[in-house]
Amino acid sequence: MTALTDRIQEKVDWLFPQLVAWRRHFHEHPELSFQEQETAAFVYDRLADFGGYELSRPTETSVVARLITGRPGPTLALRADMDALPIQEENALDFASKIPGVMHACGHDGHTAMLLGAAKLLAEQRSSLRGELRLFFQHAEELFPGGGQQLVDAGVMEGVDTVVGAHLGSSLPTGKIGVCLGAMMAAPDTFSITVVGSGGHAAHPNQTVDSVAIAAQVITNLQHIVARNIDPLDSIVVSVTQLQAGTADNVIPGSAWMGGTVRSLDPALRDSMPQRLERVVRGICEAHGAHYSFEYRRGYRPVINDATVTEWVAEVVRSELGGEHLEVIRPSMGGEDFSAYQQKAPGSFFIVGSGNPDLESDFPHHHPRFTIDEAAMRNGVVVFIGLVHKILATAS
Ligand code: NI
Repeated sequence: MTALTDRIQEKVDWLFPQLVAWRRHFHEHPELSFQEQETAAFVYDRLADFGGYELSRPTETSVVARLITGRPGPTLALRADMDALPIQEENALDFASKIPGVMHACGHDGHTAMLLGAAKLLAEQRSSLRGELRLFFQHAEELFPGGGQQLVDAGVMEGVDTVVGAHLGSSLPTGKIGVCLGAMMAAPDTFSITVVGSGGHAAHPNQTVDSVAIAAQVITNLQHIVARNIDPLDSIVVSVTQLQAGTADNVIPGSAWMGGTVRSLDPALRDSMPQRLERVVRGICEAHGAHYSFEYRRGYRPVINDATVTEWVAEVVRSELGGEHLEVIRPSMGGEDFSAYQQKAPGSFFIVGSGNPDLESDFPHHHPRFTIDEAAMRNGVVVFIGLVHKILATAS
């Protein structure tokens, strides 16, 4: 163990009760995407207390803190998201959500507490840093178009050389830090398809163009794109998740609507998906004499981790926590608007394992029983601070 390691661990241990208190405060008072007024105000006030930060509110419910050292050097940005979800909490915790139907069910309460903790400790270490540390307390990760792109549009990435973000993860055991090189999280696009036939009496299908039967063919054939049309070594998901048609047992409806999602990791493959989907829809509808409307909406871009920055994260985990804590993880087809920042500078997103069956903190994210093992926050803060020292430490 190096001296730096010992110092970081010691300081984070000292701060730990405060991290827990902050996280529980956020957990008790969750706010939905784009409505994080109280959370942002709380974060702003703490940062103001720490001193040394230049604070701004680029949007109504976000906070950006800049630690400008005055010494030449790179600019490193760290990001936490702060929003909760429209879920009724089912945990019997004394700090369970006080807001009916709203819950921190993805761990963003922990993210906010971890970045706040790092901010507190780093404010005191300014004299040993160079360049600039920039902290993004981002609103609205859970709701497209997302807060990440809004912050980028507000100019928060100007001058940033490296950007790093973290997510607590219930499927990774507490103690582990998960890193992933290259494509890590998918672009979550959505589509809407209406099959327009011609309705009529269910006893006389020959007098109709049956939109339900044709929609069923469309759904089946869309899976051929995945199974027969795309390189098996590429990752893709096409899921029809909504289907609506009809009003009565004896009426063939004139139209059938379906909606769903396309998940992809590769930008070029992603670009080809609207055309691949529409070709199937058009072909099936034409074959059966129906018309259609087709709409494809792009969601967040895929999270693609830079090789150098990801290696820096891995090195910090090895040096500050120990090699046994590092886990190379597989990509996920979930989405994340951290990708917005990665359009502007090389970046890496890592997972802080928080799953612990003894504490029942291994429910999936977005589940009403989701919670975190608070001990995991300690590891997240250690990695954040280790990274800041790795990238911004003065030579001496
Ligand atoms: Ni999340």
